[in-house]
Amino acid sequence: MSHYLITGSSSGIGAALATQLTANGHAVSGVARRKQRLTALANQLNSFNGYAADVGDTESLAYAIRKAKAKSGAIDVAILNAGIYQPQDGTKIDPQIYANHMTINYLGVVNALAGLVPDMVRDGKGHIAIVSSVAGWRGLPKSAAYGPTKAALISLAESLYFDLVPRGLRIQVICPGFVDSEATAVNDFEMPDLISADSAASAIITGMQGHDFSINFPKSFTRKMGLLRLLPDRLFFRLVGKQTGAF
Ligand SMILES: NC(=O)c1ccc[n+]([C@@H]2O[C@H](COP(=O)([O-])OP(=O)(O)OC[C@H]3O[C@@H](n4cnc5c(N)ncnc54)[C@H](OP(=O)(O)O)[C@@H]3O)[C@@H](O)[C@H]2O)c1
Repeated sequence: MSHYLITGSSSGIGAALATQLTANGHAVSGVARRKQRLTALANQLNSFNGYAADVGDTESLAYAIRKAKAKSGAIDVAILNAGIYQPQDGTKIDPQIYANHMTINYLGVVNALAGLVPDMVRDGKGHIAIVSSVAGWRGLPKSAAYGPTKAALISLAESLYFDLVPRGLRIQVICPGFVDSEATAVNDFEMPDLISADSAASAIITGMQGHDFSINFPKSFTRKMGLLRLLPDRLFFRLVGKQTGAF
């Protein structure tokens, strides 16, 4: 049985992951800001410990990771999942909103890596999975603050692969399509191929047992998004603009 660290475990995909992994006998250390949610999960699940921290705050996250290691031992697997999503109207740019997305979604992962990678490299083992999104594959409507953070995570994971895999570590990137959660509850459009947080957690757990670098699901959606990635720009803008009603 392994010790998992999951950031963003107080709701949605992270809480579903904590539920399934503890049911499978693993120990889970969960990090999020909402302490009450973490306490409720700790009361409900076996072998779950919650650590209230903001992933965007380097010191607070480092302290939480140190406490998790002191309580449950070395971290074998980390799922870096914490994130925010605020749809944007790109004609009104508020730099603070863009900065918040970068601080939490991107630097939050970097902060976690700082607390994890040195021990894993020393031990020559460890498994890190970073939750990105298909929104990182190409720029999508309303995603001007969110999408770039997810594109950055894919690039980060690809780059780290060259450093970490030769040292005996595993690194994967997770690209979900639409998942029913607090994050997507703000969307005012019908989300194609929407899946539950439970299904997303199952797909992540299965994908992490496999050997693909990128874990993409649901396939019904990610295959279509994969095609969009290959389209020439003019066709891409015309097709997505029409499909989403942007123009
Ligand atoms: N839902 C989708 O369709 C979808 C698709 C692709 C990718 N994703 C990604 O999946 C991940 C999980 O999202 P979700 O859909 O499950 O949404 P969610 O229910 O809103 O979960 C987000 C989690 O991140 C935590 N979080 C947010 N800001 C944080 C911070 N500063 N420090 C620590 N924890 C923080 C939240 O906890 P607190 O508020 O308690 O801190 C919560 O536990 C995100 O990275 C999201 O971008 C989601």
